Amino acid sequence: MAIQIVAIQGTVRPGNFTAKALALVADELRKHDDVGVELIDPSTLNLPFPGMDGEGQGAKLLQEKVSVATGVILSTPEYHGSFSSVLKLVIENLGFPSILAGKPVALLGVAAGQIGAIKALEQLRSVCSHVGAIVLPGPVSVAGVQQLFDEQGRCLDQATEERIRGVATKLLDYIKGYICPRVALEEMVRQRLSRREAELCSANG
Ligand SMILES: Cc1cc2nc3c(=O)[nH]c(=O)nc-3n(C[C@H](O)[C@H](O)[C@H](O)COP(=O)(O)O)c2cc1C
Repeated sequence: MAIQIVAIQGTVRPGNFTAKALALVADELRKHDDVGVELIDPSTLNLPFPGMDGEGQGAKLLQEKVSVATGVILSTPEYHGSFSSVLKLVIENLGFPSILAGKPVALLGVAAGQIGAIKALEQLRSVCSHVGAIVLPGPVSVAGVQQLFDEQGRCLDQATEERIRGVATKLLDYIKGYICPRVALEEMVRQRLSRREAELCSANG
């Protein structure tokens, strides 16, 4: 798969709405044949707090998945005027220096309240920038999220659904516009250098 996206669910609350919003982003990504999507639910990872005995298999798995990702989507609920502690724990388990450094990261926040997840997203952006991630502009904040999805996870408002799906589009546009050309250019330069080396070797006998 040419492009690999890791989408991280920022809460483990049963029946959470963050996962419902993130599922739309994953669905949008999966429309592209050249894109692989890995959804990460931290409740399956048993992540340790920093400094607790030995990183478990969960932390290793998380690090492996994120390190091979072309881009990352971080989703969070707004909890007490910030992003969730679970998502902070995920970030803390991504190493110091962080595996997120240099990776394009798109942000999605949802909140029950009417001002949305703006505070959560601002703080999350700050932390992600601090660890060196390329945080894409235009994070998507969803207000009143509990009225916007039904039990089956269907979004009841088309405009909101389009905004949420836009998280996927923006990330893919950035990767295809900036990351893929850079990788292709590096590959081209490497090939030219090895051809030049081969020519020099044969010229020198
Ligand atoms: C511990 C906790 C703190 C919360 N704090 C806020 C808050 O500051 N602002 C807000 O709009 N909603 C707050 N909520 C409600 C969440 O935004 C709401 O549960 C929403 O559905 C998104 O979270 P979810 O993904 O867990 O469903 C809080 C919920 C919990 C469990």
